[in-house]
Amino acid sequence: MTTPTEEPTDDWDSNAYDGSHSFVYEYGADVVGLLDPQPGERVLDLGCGTGHLTHQLADAGADVVGIDRSAEMVETARESYPHLEFRRADARDFDVEEPFDAVFSNAALHWIDEQDAVCEAVADALVPGGRFVAELGGSRNVEAIVTAVAAELVERGYKPAPEPWYFPTVGEHATTLEAHGFEVRYARLFDRPTELDDGMAAWIGMFGDRLLADVPADQRADVIDGVEDRLRDELYHDGVWTADYRRLRFVAVLDA
Ligand code: BEZ
Repeated sequence: MTTPTEEPTDDWDSNAYDGSHSFVYEYGADVVGLLDPQPGERVLDLGCGTGHLTHQLADAGADVVGIDRSAEMVETARESYPHLEFRRADARDFDVEEPFDAVFSNAALHWIDEQDAVCEAVADALVPGGRFVAELGGSRNVEAIVTAVAAELVERGYKPAPEPWYFPTVGEHATTLEAHGFEVRYARLFDRPTELDDGMAAWIGMFGDRLLADVPADQRADVIDGVEDRLRDELYHDGVWTADYRRLRFVAVLDA
């Protein structure tokens, strides 16, 4: 595999990701079901994070390799699952020695703008007829949160960040997949309100860095308080914060 580029990445804390935000991989179990890995299949887990789903794929009998751009995630995955193979690599530009039967990805693709590069690299990594099965944030994902952050920033004199994630419609993403030789066999966009065990402030702290990039560190807590005030009526009920997640799932098969 090629070495990942050294652009700045989101500053992931793999412990927080595993602890307070474990819903990310817990929901991913459904995507493992959608892939339906068969014993002996070679499966690449793209954006494997701390490796829990890579481990589930291996438990199903697949021969797996996990890749992630974050050195910290790869290190944590290796510590948790020393019997599995994890490598640091960039989803937009990686090579494999031997092609895979399937590429799997959960909650990773929406961090990447260059989806043409991703689809090209995935197509190159698959055998003809290989599957690309993934879930990512879909169109209008976390729209209420993004809107509240933007309103709070404007009120405080900051310029809101442009939409920092790739949240496509079914049509947008299917078009990109087809342009790279995939046939889309299944695609679904759906609402999945997601309870946040540690609350909205923790979610924004972990995932919303790109939204608050212009806000000095010592002002962030105040801004987040203001965002919570804006969201409380809509997303806080019976003591629980819920994020307005919308997911896009797809199964695409590479032309034989
Ligand atoms: C998501 O998984 O939907 C998500 C992750 C980070 C930021 C926004 C959304």
